[in-house]
Amino acid sequence: MTRLPVLPFAFFGFLMFATSLLASESGPKLQVSEFGRTSDGVSIYRYVLSNNKGVEAVVISYGATLVSLKVPDRNGKAADIVLGYDNLDGYEQGKSYFGATIGRYGNRIARGEFTLDGTLFRLPKNDGPNSLHGGIRGFNKRVWTAVDRSRAGAQVLELSYTSLDGEEGYPGTLKVKVTYTLPAETSELRIDYTATTDRDTVVNLTNHSYFNLSGDLSKEIVEHQLLLQAPQFTPVDSTLIPTGELRAVRGTPFDFTKPAVIGARIDQDDEQLKFGKGYDHNWVLAKAEKTGPRLAAEVFDPTSGRVLQVLTTEPGIQFYSGNFLDGTAKGKGGQLYAHRTGFCLETQHFPDSPNHPNFPSTVLKPGETYRTSTVLRFSSRK
Ligand code: BGC
Repeated sequence: MTRLPVLPFAFFGFLMFATSLLASESGPKLQVSEFGRTSDGVSIYRYVLSNNKGVEAVVISYGATLVSLKVPDRNGKAADIVLGYDNLDGYEQGKSYFGATIGRYGNRIARGEFTLDGTLFRLPKNDGPNSLHGGIRGFNKRVWTAVDRSRAGAQVLELSYTSLDGEEGYPGTLKVKVTYTLPAETSELRIDYTATTDRDTVVNLTNHSYFNLSGDLSKEIVEHQLLLQAPQFTPVDSTLIPTGELRAVRGTPFDFTKPAVIGARIDQDDEQLKFGKGYDHNWVLAKAEKTGPRLAAEVFDPTSGRVLQVLTTEPGIQFYSGNFLDGTAKGKGGQLYAHRTGFCLETQHFPDSPNHPNFPSTVLKPGETYRTSTVLRFSSRK
């Protein structure tokens, strides 16, 4: 008869126990699969974050992009509320920034130039005379490195990207991290941004999701009701560059300090609305009373009952009513996204800040850490 050695078994048992402890400490792991390969052969991964409240967020390592976001309606029925594509080719070719992380500078920089420490920097002009959303190949068209940082109580995906000195004309090597956190028991998706640099630069990071709370991505969003905690907005010129003025919203179609239907005033005879072909402006958020994300916007869709709240540490928010969607972008399930079938709420510093000393500064210096947070909070009502 062979005697079974007790010690190795005991050791193996202990190992199993220790690993299970570790696993529960680090929380349930994210579901991961290959999403596709870029045109130059790099594998891109797709990460699914889900929780006990019926919220599911899918993020890919291309552009650190939120490609799908399922949340329940008033009857508990979940549906995808963000525009996007079915495959990687869509994201590589796409021009609408669906769900992407935007950088190094979200929104426009006038004439594609700014001066920092006495040096003039020139950026690619990809939006008429201006530079938009980080240039021709912004952070939305880059491959990010993703790490599962899930822990007890939350599924967490951390994505990193190093933007080299001179990339798209910007000075300094910038190390960026974007972290998506989905708590197990709360209906919210948190996005934290950090960045450091080795040379003075400018940074303005945001997420460019287009929401349609109805869950029917073929329907216009004009019946949604919007609240913006913003007493002022930054009027623009005909190329959507801020004039520098902070204008009171009171008495204008830009007043969303009380909930208002998006479409109610959108076609009014107003120069600012004409410039944007609807809403495409930066609102100046009410000052934060304490640190941490505070309520910036709330959107309610009467048909589904879904409510989206946007909380942020940022001083501004770009409300864009999807005016340039023209039915040419072929999205999920072959859907052609038509005019105003999605809206964006891009939490941000003000557009063209590097050329406006009166706007909150977007300069980042070596030794400092850029840190901003935005929370998307979901609920529903009658
Ligand atoms: C801009 C719009 C632009 C859209 C997609 C928004 O942030 O304000 O003018 O069309 O992004 O590029």
